[in-house]
Amino acid sequence: MNKVLRIGIAGLGTVGSAVVRLFQEKSERLVRQCGRQVQIVAVSARNYKQDRGIKLESFIWYDDPLDLASSADIDVFVELIGGEEGIACHAVKAALKAGHHVVTANKALLARHGVTLARLAEKNGLLLHFEAAVAGGIPVIKVLRESLAGNTISRIYGILNGTCNYILTRMGEENLSFERCLKEAQILGYAEADPIFDVEGNDTAHKLSLLTSLAFGTVVSLDDIYVEGIQNISLADIRAADELGYRIKLLGVAAITDTGIEQRVQPTMVPTSSVIAQVNGVTNAVVIETDLLGKLLLSGVGAGGNATASAVLGDIADIAKSQPDFQHGPVLGSPVIALKPYKKATIRAHAGGYFIRLTVDDRTGVFASVAKRMAQNAISLESIVQRPITETQTHGIKTIVLTTHQTNESAVYKALSGIMQDGNLLDKPQLIRIERSS
Ligand code: HSE
Repeated sequence: MNKVLRIGIAGLGTVGSAVVRLFQEKSERLVRQCGRQVQIVAVSARNYKQDRGIKLESFIWYDDPLDLASSADIDVFVELIGGEEGIACHAVKAALKAGHHVVTANKALLARHGVTLARLAEKNGLLLHFEAAVAGGIPVIKVLRESLAGNTISRIYGILNGTCNYILTRMGEENLSFERCLKEAQILGYAEADPIFDVEGNDTAHKLSLLTSLAFGTVVSLDDIYVEGIQNISLADIRAADELGYRIKLLGVAAITDTGIEQRVQPTMVPTSSVIAQVNGVTNAVVIETDLLGKLLLSGVGAGGNATASAVLGDIADIAKSQPDFQHGPVLGSPVIALKPYKKATIRAHAGGYFIRLTVDDRTGVFASVAKRMAQNAISLESIVQRPITETQTHGIKTIVLTTHQTNESAVYKALSGIMQDGNLLDKPQLIRIERSS
């Protein structure tokens, strides 16, 4: 049997603690799967004494993750600290320079420094695995990097943030407030240390940037993503969507278009009958559209200790099974030198349907003026309804909800600007994309 593979883990939060616990619970299975002993030998975290429900006595303790990263005690450095800069970044670089394979769940780090780190790993003949960074327990990185090698991918999209999907599901099903649902997601261990990263769409953007690179063979390009979060989605939007036969999901979408690659993260209305609309709670889903397979759907638990630890264990097992003298496969699917530059599509050229919710003064002609602005911009309406804000209200403020047929974003913005000029709006208009082909 091969020699023991020695693991050092930096970061013992929700995911790190789950990895340690699962190593203890599943040691026999891991040995069988890997064909060799795999042992955690050292750990590092901020506070040794914190109660995490796991025993640390048998591990070498490092106060400083940098010391662990470059230590001769380990073969694989597992980075579960998080954060795009600072200690996590320094530690991963130190580990690669010291000749250690790296496993990380850190999407922010890879979205920002993925190409640099991949280059460093390739130069040193090391593996840098990051299955846990995208969509929790779903093995989508391995699928893109290995299984779909013969496919040409045209679009990849999905629900990539468990916290947001949990919030939107609970708001819709239980009529609960945004704040209450977010609190629940935090208690359940789904949310980021700062949940703004979840709700404002940045976490989805980090993950999408990695999927895009792997799907299209381009350099990682986080700053080219158009990002909107769910912080402005109200119960009124969720109810109106439901009445029209849609659910609202935070989608990350990357597609090859005529003008380049379009990457966007935004709340999106999907038909209630679509598969993606049935993906609820903390579950994530990724759809990959390819020439050979049509649509491939991967779905599973997207956040939380066990799901994310499952991906970390898979990466460790992969390293354990790799041959010591083998030239390891490239981190981002293609060698860094072969990655194409990123060409950004024009977002305002995006074509699709739109949901628009307007809060207006209930005066004669308002409804007609809204419809006229749409017609002026050649926008064909699928539906338009005017409602009281509450069921008991008879006059005063009204809501106009409309959905459009296929149009482009620039026409929608021109129409909205005209509606604003007409002076009938009492609140900011709500605009949500409709993705009928999801
Ligand atoms: N906060 C993330 C989520 C954790 O909710 O999906 C998994 O990356």
